[in-house]
Amino acid sequence: MKLKKTLLLLSGSLCFALAGTSVHATDEADAVKLMKDSECGKCHDVKRNKKGKSYKKVAAEYKDKPDAVAQIIKHLTEPKEVEVDGEKVDHGTVKTRDAARIKNLAEWILSR
Ligand code: HEC
Repeated sequence: MKLKKTLLLLSGSLCFALAGTSVHATDEADAVKLMKDSECGKCHDVKRNKKGKSYKKVAAEYKDKPDAVAQIIKHLTEPKEVEVDGEKVDHGTVKTRDAARIKNLAEWILSR
């Protein structure tokens, strides 16, 4: 009886630990692939400012915002105009509707 209870407790905490990792670890390969498919690299680089700012700069600016992930997801999924060389252009959105992949990309950008 006591053993059964211990096992239950153990399996419970194992699930919790596994779920914890999947929420926090970002999948770099998938983030990079999604950016490639969405042609983000035309305007962004991790370290260098191009037409758009570097992801390092984005990460620094959003560092203290509690809803950073939600804001980046919004930026990547809703059409929005941005300025490139003084001209307004459509920012473009990510080429997927998979919410988990978009969240992964947002978290990857914010952890640069
Ligand atoms: C046509 C060029 C262009 C493309 C393509 C582009 N961006 Fe941007 N992006 C910009 C510009 C310009 C801004 C405006 C802010 C700035 O960089 O000064 C911006 C802003 C951002 C921001 C910061 C938003 C904020 O609130 O500060 C993120 C994050 C971002 N882009 C990610 C991406 C991702 C991911 C992709 C691919 C889906 C992408 N961008 C595609 C030009 C582009």
